[in-house]
Amino acid sequence: PLLISNLFLSSNLLSFFSLLFSAVLEEAHGILAELQSYNGAGQEIREAIQNPGDLALQEKAWNAVCPLVAKLKRFYEFSLRLENALRSLLEALTSPPYAPMQHLEREQALAKQFAEILHFTLSFDELKMTNPAIQNDFSYYRRTISRNRLNNQQLEAENEVNNEMANRMSLFYAEATPMLKTLSNATTKFVSENKTLPIEDTTDCLSTMACVCRVMLETPEYRCRFTNTDTMLFCMRVMVGVIILYDHVHPVGAFAKTSKIDMKGCIKVLKEQPSNSVEGLLNALRYTTRHLNDDSTSKQIRALLQ
Ligand SMILES: *[C@@H]1O[C@H](CO)[C@@H](O)[C@H](O)[C@H]1NC(C)=O
Ligand SMILES: *[C@@H]1O[C@H](CO)[C@@H](O)[C@H](O)[C@H]1NC(C)=O
Repeated sequence: PLLISNLFLSSNLLSFFSLLFSAVLEEAHGILAELQSYNGAGQEIREAIQNPGDLALQEKAWNAVCPLVAKLKRFYEFSLRLENALRSLLEALTSPPYAPMQHLEREQALAKQFAEILHFTLSFDELKMTNPAIQNDFSYYRRTISRNRLNNQQLEAENEVNNEMANRMSLFYAEATPMLKTLSNATTKFVSENKTLPIEDTTDCLSTMACVCRVMLETPEYRCRFTNTDTMLFCMRVMVGVIILYDHVHPVGAFAKTSKIDMKGCIKVLKEQPSNSVEGLLNALRYTTRHLNDDSTSKQIRALLQ
């Protein structure tokens, strides 16, 4: 238990640090900062739409939107890299001969990276969800492109985001929680591609991490070691992230009686946290899980999430 409790607090990362993950995670911080300061071109777009005959305003809006779309493309491309990083992590955490629990204990650095990826994912989605400018900017961009295509004009920016890329980005940003969806798709794919690997190896790894986070949040001795609210938030996000992945990958999901995740305990401890992010995380459980509305979900759990 001591080892487990050190999982996320441990500062002496074991030698397992691979360059790939540290590069991805380093970039993740930059992406979050960029998204945080993403203000959108709402004003320019409004003016352009209200004055369709004013070419200068059309151009102004277009010039404001193009660099933003380049940013959105970078975010999207990062989601693809994150997907690859997650695959490698899952591969490492489930590789024989060790059981998932042993992997987590032996390779705490890997577990920590997994946690960091989930933390990034939920932070990104939280920011995206509260920023309507993203979809507004992107749909303006697409409308402008298709209008100009009809007029047979070639737009320079089409080289940057061609039609196929725009379609894929559009699907990505249409998701309420695009990064989480990317990860759960990737986890599902990982499990289905590795038929020889028992599904439990992957889901046990996820339920173990959920358990570690829950225990850390519930136990006063651990909680007082959280030097700042960031660590608490980190734990909360990771717990919710692994629950959602588990629910997508496991055949009966996280809410069933047979689930290896103590959902009642997780939801209760989440609700007790003094943080502005609680509601967003509860919403992630409500709206991005697959099995919450199954008959097998107990009334108690439903009531807790109501
Ligand atoms: C996840 O997979 C579904 C089904 O294959 C697909 O429609 C959706 O676009 C994917 N979402 C992301 C964000 O990859
Ligand atoms: C999972 O599948 C991938 C690709 O098919 C393969 O490279 C990898 O070794 C498999 N991993 C395990 C643990 O079976």
